[in-house]
Amino acid sequence: MEAVRQMSNWDVEKIRKDFPVLSQTVNGKPLVYLDNSASSQVPQLVIDRGSKYLAEEHSNIHRGVHYLSQHATTAYEAAREKIKRFINAKEAKECIFVRGTTEGINLVAYSYSKKFINEGDEILVSQMEHHSNIIPWQMAAEERGAKIRVIPMNDRGELIIDEYENLLNERTKIVAVAHVSNSLGTINPIKEMIATAHKFGVPVCVDAAQSVPHFPVDVQDLDVDFFAFSGHKMFGPTGSGIVYGKKEWLDKMPPYQTGGGMIRTVSFEATTFAGLPDKFEAGTPAIAAGIGLGAAVDYINSIDFEAAAAYEYELLEYATQRLSDIPGVTIIGTAANKASVLSFTIEDVHPHDIGTILDQDGIAVRAGHHCAQPVMEFFDVPATARASFAFYNTREEIDKLADAVQKVIEVFA
Ligand SMILES: Cc1ncc(COP(=O)(O)O)c(C=O)c1O
Repeated sequence: MEAVRQMSNWDVEKIRKDFPVLSQTVNGKPLVYLDNSASSQVPQLVIDRGSKYLAEEHSNIHRGVHYLSQHATTAYEAAREKIKRFINAKEAKECIFVRGTTEGINLVAYSYSKKFINEGDEILVSQMEHHSNIIPWQMAAEERGAKIRVIPMNDRGELIIDEYENLLNERTKIVAVAHVSNSLGTINPIKEMIATAHKFGVPVCVDAAQSVPHFPVDVQDLDVDFFAFSGHKMFGPTGSGIVYGKKEWLDKMPPYQTGGGMIRTVSFEATTFAGLPDKFEAGTPAIAAGIGLGAAVDYINSIDFEAAAAYEYELLEYATQRLSDIPGVTIIGTAANKASVLSFTIEDVHPHDIGTILDQDGIAVRAGHHCAQPVMEFFDVPATARASFAFYNTREEIDKLADAVQKVIEVFA
């Protein structure tokens, strides 16, 4: 996916009205919310859907014959169906409800490795991964006697694709890579990377936490094997998320967690498991969150998502230019193909101080290692400040960010 670059025609003021949280003041200043990569804000439509469920429909799903249970089950499964269409999965049962990207990747790492990874095998992960797409694989490697190998990046924060191709071999059993880096904003060429892995018969697990909220995705077009994302980063509730897996893989993989709802028969001698998706959804799920995620998909479908992506790209370019013009500011992550994320440092100022001073002006950015310590190590910084954009941010907010960054420099001069 190339960043969407056509000039956008986007009515941001109209869109902002959909998000009640944006109209508040923080420290006496209008909130400038630039922490969307951590969690995006929630539109009224999603808030209303959650309230309606809790007020009128709440009940446990899949088990009851009574009215409310059937009603809640229908709503929950309708959400799955919406997500299936949204990412263009072949079947809804390939979309497993999870708490978020982290749980989705843990599910794949645990279950896939148990079945398909053995002593001496190799797992490729990239150097720019979020810890959520490193540690589950490390644990799996340890458990199975396999080895982690790292796809390196260059100093713009782009994966070195030649090196990736050299790393793939007959011992490689899976590739784990981010669609978009949360610390650098790099959009990785995952379609090409997947096609290359498939030449070796190797499946690919994509961390899509930072792509799904920012541009349209199509899992069949990507031909991706596993694809995990979080509801709270795509205008939905926390506690919701999806891990998509191709049926042919999921069918062969053992359950991740066990308990109620995921079985066909149980006796003290043996248990047989339900089919997809139930096999991977043990226990009572986060029903309200799942229905809320469906509503988030409704919201995205109600706007011109392509135009939103183009608008966001313009914001990113504008912010990059504004901050690059300030002496003492260094942008971390300058890939040719980026989305939404602008990480930066200021000479002689710790990112936490940047975050704290910006907060005094009502500007929310993230400061820290962004759960990507190997990225910080690569760029030889302890942390960065990160502004991350959504389609409800404005150029005026970026001007405020630039002015506040200037102020930080003056305070520390
Ligand atoms: C690229 C990436 N992967 C994984 C995660 C983890 O997502 P969650 O905390 O919703 O499970 C994040 C969250 O910031 C992320 O940005």
